[in-house]
Amino acid sequence: MTSIRKLALITGASSGLGFELAKQFAQNGYDIAMSGSSERIFEAADAIRNLNVEAYPHQADAATYDGVESFWNFAAQLGRPIDSAVLNVGIAIGGAFADMELEDNLRIIAINITGTVHMAKRVVQHMLPNQQGRILIVSSVSATLPTPYETVYGPSKAFGFSFAESLREELRGTGITVTALLPGATDTDFHRNAGMATSAIGSSKKNDKTLVARQGFEALMNDEDHVIGGDEQTKQQAIANRTIPEPIKAARHAKQAKIPD
Ligand SMILES: NC(=O)c1ccc[n+]([C@@H]2O[C@H](COP(=O)([O-])OP(=O)(O)OC[C@H]3O[C@@H](n4cnc5c(N)ncnc54)[C@H](OP(=O)(O)O)[C@@H]3O)[C@@H](O)[C@H]2O)c1
Repeated sequence: MTSIRKLALITGASSGLGFELAKQFAQNGYDIAMSGSSERIFEAADAIRNLNVEAYPHQADAATYDGVESFWNFAAQLGRPIDSAVLNVGIAIGGAFADMELEDNLRIIAINITGTVHMAKRVVQHMLPNQQGRILIVSSVSATLPTPYETVYGPSKAFGFSFAESLREELRGTGITVTALLPGATDTDFHRNAGMATSAIGSSKKNDKTLVARQGFEALMNDEDHVIGGDEQTKQQAIANRTIPEPIKAARHAKQAKIPD
């Protein structure tokens, strides 16, 4: 029998914010189609099923065209309307631009920008005939400042924020809403995975990932254009970033993100 629950699609949901967002949707009665690049996605799906909804895990690399397309085909062949899509998967790789391998810079763009545009295209074209849908794009507070020593990451997240706001306006009146989530530093494996565990930002106190996911979920449901994810200090910092000159924010971030020798 076909489930009467709504279906949400979430990229990068093996762990971290993607998994927390999957829990938010599950606790609100959604079935989840979820992707990750490792076998951990199957364990994550088991944990979601314990919340009494169905989970459909798919292992694919969001850095490749075929990987994005295979997750989309997997979700589409479920034959159900996708109510909500969370374009969450994203990576950073810390280090000075001049020292990093070009391949690593391009991998950030492939996942955070190219992969996001690719999945958004499939999702929007799926949702338009249904005249209904919600899209959450996970950007970052890094979208509001230059990010030296994560030189390509911040700009990739600025792309996500501007892309979300652009798409939102274009889709006004279609029944599809778009929301951007801009988390501050959050307690996931993100900075460790970026090789930045020993940087000041990597070892700083971080926002609670469950709080950030709940803020993102609620903003999506309330049709907000964007929400800052994190505590009051994080929100105040994001507001201050609107008026602080770029060179000042850049110098501050360099100190935070530089990996000690
Ligand atoms: N944590 C923060 O401080 C922070 C702050 C602002 C914004 N964000 C944004 O939040 C989003 C989620 O980050 P996070 O903190 O949850 O990071 P994370 O803890 O590193 O988790 C990354 C998730 O993405 C999956 N993933 C990684 N590479 C993938 C690939 N090539 N293909 C498919 N899945 C892949 C991982 O699963 P597998 O291991 O199975 O691949 C994992 O589920 C990102 O877009 C990030 O930019 C994070």
